[in-house]
Amino acid sequence: MNTARNNIKVLIVEDDPAAADLYLEIFRMPGRVAFDVKWADRLSKALEYESREAFDVILSDLGLPDSRGLNTFEKVKEQAQDAPIIILTGSEEETLAAQAIGGGAQDYISKGRVDYHILLRAITYAIERSRIQKDLQDAKKGLEMKVRERTADLQASFVYLINALARAAEANDEDTGDHILRVGEYCAVISRQMRMPQEFSDAICSQAPLHDVGKIHVPSTILKKTGSLTSEEWEEMKKHTLYGAKIIGDHPKFAIAKSVTLTHHEKWDGSGYPRGLKGEEIPVEGRIVTIADQYDALRNARAYKPAFDHGTTCEIIIKGDGRTKPEHFDPEVLDAFEQTASVLEELYEKMKR
Ligand code: C2E
Ligand code: SIN
Ligand code: SIN
Ligand code: FE
Repeated sequence: MNTARNNIKVLIVEDDPAAADLYLEIFRMPGRVAFDVKWADRLSKALEYESREAFDVILSDLGLPDSRGLNTFEKVKEQAQDAPIIILTGSEEETLAAQAIGGGAQDYISKGRVDYHILLRAITYAIERSRIQKDLQDAKKGLEMKVRERTADLQASFVYLINALARAAEANDEDTGDHILRVGEYCAVISRQMRMPQEFSDAICSQAPLHDVGKIHVPSTILKKTGSLTSEEWEEMKKHTLYGAKIIGDHPKFAIAKSVTLTHHEKWDGSGYPRGLKGEEIPVEGRIVTIADQYDALRNARAYKPAFDHGTTCEIIIKGDGRTKPEHFDPEVLDAFEQTASVLEELYEKMKR
């Protein structure tokens, strides 16, 4: 509403001069409310007025020289800038008016029954209702924005805590920089290459960093040992998968995390641990993390091994070196790894420290 001058700005769209005269006369009657009225006798003129100024309310006939029926309403509404529209109907046009209401018109008035009070009440109602609708819409938008902000905030805290937990486990291990974060990123890249759903790529990206969280229960004397492990030490080492699954527990939001702690050392040919799962018995997230984890482990120096460059690492994974064999990997994941190896290399360079 134009509160500055308090005049209600009205657009009348009506081709019948006699009818238009009647409305204009009514609007000029002295009363509590003052009106600024514009009259358009055809659609093109109405659209021109609408493009020039914002009205508080629009009264529109549907049958005009240059437009008929619902088309008139739709065109007028398109340019109405949220102004409420009241349809002026002849006695035969109630169905049409009802359709216009369905399409967002605020109200309709029978042309035969127009007088000052009917018109004023319809206009006041229409303006009030449209204001309430707009307030509701604004409130809804504000709420949605708040929810989005809160959700993003929670998501950031969620990821932060995941990484804090993963780092707590790493403290026991050797310092391999952002190994856990890189593994998450590699997993996302490989998942996207495999055309997994976006939600899966996001989940594996944020949860794969937990794959070794069970190492928190493995003595650092084993983790930091420079030589190879005794069979007892190795048995203890292998349990980091089970410890990890126990730490993560059964919360559905951490299903991927639990699954990868448990299965990231399973091998496609069934020679892995802890359960010797084979092929598709291994969940796809486990099949993806195993290759991402090994890529990064090979790139870094460990107490028990030197660092390998990108080329050597790819050789070991794709062709095997006796310890690692191509048949350890899901062929589809291995293929996705080969397709994206250069992206992994870039990520490694970018995220190493
Ligand atoms: P990690 O050091 O993070 O290594 C993860 C995985 O990367 C290994 O899983 C293995 O599949 C691959 N990998 C790492 N280094 C090499 C390598 O030099 N050659 C080849 N071909 N693959 C490599 P894996 O074998 O199940 O080992 C799990 C974890 O056990 C390792 O995590 C590490 O913490 C520990 N570990 C393994 N071997 C030794 C060892 O000889 N000495 C010590 N101290 N720890 C070891
Ligand atoms: C789990 O969610 O328990 C891990 C998936 C599996 O059963 O291997
Ligand atoms: C895939 O879509 O490539 C993996 C699905 C599965 O084997 O679990
Ligand atoms: Fe591991």
